[in-house]
Amino acid sequence: MADNDELTDGARFAAHVAAQPHVNYLKGAGALDWGMQSRLARIFRPRTHRTVMLAIDHGYFQGPTTGLERVDLSIVPLLPLADALMTTRGMVRSTIPATSGVPIVLRASGGPSVLKDLSNEQIAVAMEDAVRLDAAAVAVQVFIGGEHETQSVHNMTRLVDEGLRAGVPVLAVTAVGRELTRDARYLRLAVRICAELGAHVVKTYYCPEGFDTVTSACPVPVVMAGGKKLPELDALTVAARAIEGGAAGVDMGRNNFQSDHPVAMLRAIRAVVHESAKPEDAFEEHLRPVLSGT
Ligand code: R5P
Repeated sequence: MADNDELTDGARFAAHVAAQPHVNYLKGAGALDWGMQSRLARIFRPRTHRTVMLAIDHGYFQGPTTGLERVDLSIVPLLPLADALMTTRGMVRSTIPATSGVPIVLRASGGPSVLKDLSNEQIAVAMEDAVRLDAAAVAVQVFIGGEHETQSVHNMTRLVDEGLRAGVPVLAVTAVGRELTRDARYLRLAVRICAELGAHVVKTYYCPEGFDTVTSACPVPVVMAGGKKLPELDALTVAARAIEGGAAGVDMGRNNFQSDHPVAMLRAIRAVVHESAKPEDAFEEHLRPVLSGT
């Protein structure tokens, strides 16, 4: 591997792993059982060990979300462009065609709505049902620093125990309450706790300063969480910076389904994540043509 002083520590590590033919496993996954590795390989593309996950699980705590008010089949054209779909079992059984083949990252925690304290979640799916749905992983919210921090960590560790028995990986989502600062110091704390307590993948927010220290402090893949809708080029730029900082992919929802051109947006995100395309180039190739046509 040609060393590049311009790369961040996180990106250098990711490049190092990708360049080792004998280390052909996902970060931190080498000691996992075959079934667990197989499920992770459905989410993360083999060569890049990266993923473009589509998040459509907002309804489990905030009901109809802008862009997803109507439950219809409008998200189906996005599925072939997603390496995995993060969603709820309600959406899976009611709306997602089983024949789509998209790996499901199944939302497995819940309870409070936006009207209450969101950290007061419990496990909301039995591992048996996740297996029945052929889930590639289960996802659980972890509220480090939140009112119900310990309960949410316990939700995660119980799912990890059940997941290890069933061969189902656990993706921990580090939820950041309004009172907390999404800086590298906090995010390092949150991702490391999740990974040390057994999460196989951690989803967390991007921070402009020191994101590479977040990914390099985490022994398992870090997937960047999306956030509120941004102009397309801005969202692509954040995704690109996260990848440069060592993220193993992105899990974006509103920046896809709230875009006027979600298919083009997903294609552009794929270029940034899987081909390390510059955000401007991905925008020009995939979004400019459809924007010019409107
Ligand atoms: C995390 O809290 C949940 O998975 C969200 O529903 C999801 O991450 C939201 O995605 P986005 O912020 O990209 O719309």
